[in-house]
Amino acid sequence: MSLHTPATAPRVNPLQRIWLREIGMERLWLRPAPVVTTPPATIPVASASADIASAATPQAPVSAAVLPAQPSAPVVVAKATAPAGAAPAAAAAAAAAAGVEPTAQVIVPTGRTTGRPTIPASILNRSGPPPRPVPKTVEDEAVEAPRVPVAEAVKNATLDELREQVVACTACGLCQGRRHAVFGQGATPTRWLVVGEAPGEQEDRQGHPFVGRSGQLLDAMLAAVGMSRDTDVFITNVIKCRPPGNRNPKPEEIASCSPYLMRQIALLKPERILVLGRFAAQTLLGTDATIGSLRGRVHQLKTDDGEIPLIVSYHPAYLLRSPSEKARAWQDLKLASQMV
Ligand code: URA
Repeated sequence: MSLHTPATAPRVNPLQRIWLREIGMERLWLRPAPVVTTPPATIPVASASADIASAATPQAPVSAAVLPAQPSAPVVVAKATAPAGAAPAAAAAAAAAAGVEPTAQVIVPTGRTTGRPTIPASILNRSGPPPRPVPKTVEDEAVEAPRVPVAEAVKNATLDELREQVVACTACGLCQGRRHAVFGQGATPTRWLVVGEAPGEQEDRQGHPFVGRSGQLLDAMLAAVGMSRDTDVFITNVIKCRPPGNRNPKPEEIASCSPYLMRQIALLKPERILVLGRFAAQTLLGTDATIGSLRGRVHQLKTDDGEIPLIVSYHPAYLLRSPSEKARAWQDLKLASQMV
C-alpha cells in the first residue's frame, strides 16, 4: 500500500470515470486530495467475472485498476456476474467461482443492456427501491411461526374447531403432499367410533374417510350389524393426511397427529371403539402385539372420562386381499354389537 499526495486530480480512464459516477464518488475522487490507494491485484476469474474494490482487506481479491479504493470510508464492493436471467443459485455459484465473499451481494443481470455496469443501491448505500423479499417456504414459516404444539392447541377445541385445526394442520411433512386432510365423518352423538389407519388416494381426493373400495366393504360390514355412518358411527383415522404412496405412517407423524384422535375420542364419547388393522390397534393400545393376538377380545381404553370398550379387527383392505378372514371379522363385529 502506498500513500501519496497528488498535486492534481488523479487521472482516470473513461471506464473508471463511469464507475466513479455510478457509485457517487466521481466528484470526491477527482478532487485533488490526499488519498490512500491499494496496489492493483488481479482477480482469479473463472467463468464468472468479479470486480472488487477494497481499501480495508488487502488479502481479498482486489482490482484497483478497475475501481480505485475510496479514500476515507473503506468499502468492499463485490459484483459477481451470472448469465442474464440466471437463477439466484446460479448467480451464487458464479460468485463462488469468482471468489467473492459469501456475504457479498450477487447481481443477476436482467438481460437489459445499458452499456453501463449496474451496481445495486443496497451495495452503494444510496437511496433506491428496497430489496425484494425472498418468498418464504413452508419450512421458513414453520421455523419462524411460534407454533402451538398440537396437544396444546386441541385441549379446549370443540369438534368444529378441531376440524378446522386438522384442515389447516402443518405439524408434520404430510401436509405438503395432501389434497385434503381427512378429519372424519359420521354420526354425532356417536355410538361406535371406527378408527382406521390413514386416508388413501380416494379419501385424500374427497376429504372423507373410507370412501374407496375399503370403505364400501366397511359400510357393508357395519350394515350387517345394523350400523351406519349416517346414524350411529363416526369414522376417522389415526393419521389425518395421506402418506405418499400409501406408505406406513412414520412415528413422528403419528406423534404429531394422535392428539387430534385423542380429542375426537374425548369429544365424541363413543359407546365403543372399533379399531381396524394392526397399525391403528398398536397405536391406540400402545403395543407392538400382532393383530391376531389383539382381536377376539374386549380391551378398555382409558380416558379422562373413564374407560371405553375397544375391539380390534382386520382392516377392510386386508379383507379384500384375504377374503377368507372375513369370517373372523364377522366374529369381531358380533362381539362389538353384543356389548350394547
Ligand atoms: N384406509 C384407512 O385406513 N382409512 C381410510 O380412510 C381409507 C382407507
